[in-house]
Amino acid sequence: MELINWEERLLPYRQAVDELVVKITNMKREYEALKLVAPIEEIHGRVKTISSILDKAGRRNIPTEMIFKKLEDIAGIRIICRFVEDIERVVNIIRQRSDLDLEVLEEEDYITNTKESGYRSYHMTVKYKMITIDGPKDVLCEIQIRTMAMNFWASIEHSLRYKYSGNLPDELKSRLRNCADAAFQLDKEMATIRDDIIEAKMISETKNNLVDGIVKNLHNLYYVAKVEKVSSLNKKFIEIYQGGSLEELRDFSSKLQTMAKLYKVEYV
Ligand code: GTP
Ligand code: MG
Repeated sequence: MELINWEERLLPYRQAVDELVVKITNMKREYEALKLVAPIEEIHGRVKTISSILDKAGRRNIPTEMIFKKLEDIAGIRIICRFVEDIERVVNIIRQRSDLDLEVLEEEDYITNTKESGYRSYHMTVKYKMITIDGPKDVLCEIQIRTMAMNFWASIEHSLRYKYSGNLPDELKSRLRNCADAAFQLDKEMATIRDDIIEAKMISETKNNLVDGIVKNLHNLYYVAKVEKVSSLNKKFIEIYQGGSLEELRDFSSKLQTMAKLYKVEYV
């Protein structure tokens, strides 16, 4: 039997994970740039370690030479969403990429079909198309999509499973199932205040953008246009920022923008 050159064999998987993380991160940025609510909160990617590849191949009786054909999760991407309904949005975004840079081979909905353990998540096995120095190459990749609550549960359960080498005592199993249901209950409760949560996020982002613009305009008026009364404007800004409403801040920002335009130093 020929010895596997692991570093060389895992290289395409590393490339696939890196590329997918960049692409999904940019999707999130696109939403943010368009001032839309992104359905994605966090993106993680990993290549399975050699020991867990060997463990899984052993568990499934996969002969060494078949490992790279049969194991679908050597490259893994995890997308974490804030709300359950975001999961479907992410799934659709990935489906829409079919025939572009990937092909969806399989979908497993462990949210509708919760696992015996209590595990919830949406899995997509995709064939990701890459270009390497040897030409085009397809790499299998597993994309797991879940909420923050589902992820919290899965990571805790995973560590416990590890501690007990997969043989969890029945009592612990049953507690974990209760925890999984409680986590899902949390997801459902959060969904009912989703609009409030989104609005709060929007308000904080609007405030950040207004402050950025104000500070840059004040800076330009003072250092570029040499306008003396900027220090009193700055005082006014601090007053509004600390005690005023968002509306007052918006108003101050637009007046300052008009003034900066007049001096041809406006921040765009
Ligand atoms: P395995 O990867 O060996 O589980 O085989 P599989 O691909 O047939 O299983 P499945 O599609 O059910 O799960 C794939 C991945 O989902 C696993 O590697 C885990 O990352 C995750 N997963 C599935 N079930 C559980 C679970 O009960 N607990 C946790 N923490 N993760 C799970
Ligand atoms: Mg699977």
